[in-house]
Amino acid sequence: MRVLCSGWRRFLICIPLLFIVPHLFSVNQIQQHRPKLDMPNKSGNKFDHLVLGPAAGQGLSNRLHCEGSKALNKTHFSNNRRVNAIESTTFVTVFSVYNTSPDVSRVTVGNTSYSKVERSMAILDVFINFIQERMLQTDVIILTDPASDLYVNRRGVSVYPIQGDYSREKLMLQRIRSYIKFLEKNLQEQTQKDVRHYIFTDSDIAVVDDLRWIFHDYPNFHLALTFRNNKQQPVNSGFIAVRGTRDGITRAIAFLRKVLEVYSSKYMSASRMLGDQLALAWVVASEPSFDAKRYARPEPFMKDIGGSSVLFLPCAIYNWTPPEGAGQFHGMPLDVKVVHFKGSRKRLMLESWNFYSSTADISDMLCLILSSGRTKYDF
Ligand SMILES: *[C@@H]1O[C@H](CO)[C@@H](O)[C@H](O)[C@H]1NC(C)=O
Ligand SMILES: *[C@@H]1O[C@H](CO)[C@@H](O)[C@H](O)[C@H]1NC(C)=O
Ligand SMILES: *[C@@H]1O[C@H](CO)[C@@H](O)[C@H](O)[C@H]1NC(C)=O
Repeated sequence: MRVLCSGWRRFLICIPLLFIVPHLFSVNQIQQHRPKLDMPNKSGNKFDHLVLGPAAGQGLSNRLHCEGSKALNKTHFSNNRRVNAIESTTFVTVFSVYNTSPDVSRVTVGNTSYSKVERSMAILDVFINFIQERMLQTDVIILTDPASDLYVNRRGVSVYPIQGDYSREKLMLQRIRSYIKFLEKNLQEQTQKDVRHYIFTDSDIAVVDDLRWIFHDYPNFHLALTFRNNKQQPVNSGFIAVRGTRDGITRAIAFLRKVLEVYSSKYMSASRMLGDQLALAWVVASEPSFDAKRYARPEPFMKDIGGSSVLFLPCAIYNWTPPEGAGQFHGMPLDVKVVHFKGSRKRLMLESWNFYSSTADISDMLCLILSSGRTKYDF
């Protein structure tokens, strides 16, 4: 592993909370004694090996079509665009470390066996791998608790400690506070010449296309969010892009302060998991000109919210997540840019990187994800 951690007895956790999902025993106890092909044989009803199902979106012409893990279409990536038109951009993620009792559960992915701590470090490592592979010369900054002793020894990666309460109950709240503190510090140190944009994300994502283009292609936004057609949570908190101009950073700080205020006053009871998303949705929907219909169509749009120009980008492309259960599922757009391994899909994230490392074919890897993404894995 290229990411190193000095406090080995500690339990690390990354955003979103990876390992608090309790193991679900009971349902399939009987099957544990008679493992069948493609039935989970460990930890209740979750799989400990990759399972490919049908790829959704078949028959839709603008969706990725697959034969197993072989892509039948050409995906639309930006690698043939003029590189000198892109501006320097840094990824920022929050990652924290917790003291906990010794942990003995291990899982194996590929040829490597991981403890819980090693699993979350491996996810952080793969997050960085994808960024550095798909967006050459992009730096990553990890915001963390000064007490966490996090040490990452990789080119282009730095750890930036910010004081705060990173306890699991307060992590989502702290994440917004850390973003604000980071941006404030940045504003103080900024010189006029040196414009550097920021993209704040969860660390359980794979960046598959160069995201720097959004700052070039949509020149007028201060900050960008990803949205989806979901009335309760129309905005995902796992992706916030901030234009690195003085104006962009100032407006982004004001916007995040508003979200923090709403979170603290209305959603503290939900602070563990969803508070930030509910607060974001509240800030977005409380704007007098809010039009829910805009969120039903997966097309980018701009909106002025409390003096900040906000670009809304469709989750289907910028934050693609395989939906849970038997809900609507329209496959994967050919120009997908970010895949989000939400919930019990962290194994798939590591497997995807392994697959990509051995095949060097990003479209085939997307087929692997599309076919496998509805499966619930053991971590
Ligand atoms: C679980 O199933 C997989 C694939 O069928 C197999 O490779 C693995 O050895 C099984 N694990 C256990 C503990 O039986
Ligand atoms: C993608 O591939 C499928 C299957 O070969 C085909 O039907 C579809 O038209 C292709 N889409 C595009 C945009 O090329
Ligand atoms: C994993 O183990 C298999 C079987 O021993 C071997 O063929 C393969 O090269 C190994 N892969 C890596 C990445 O080490």
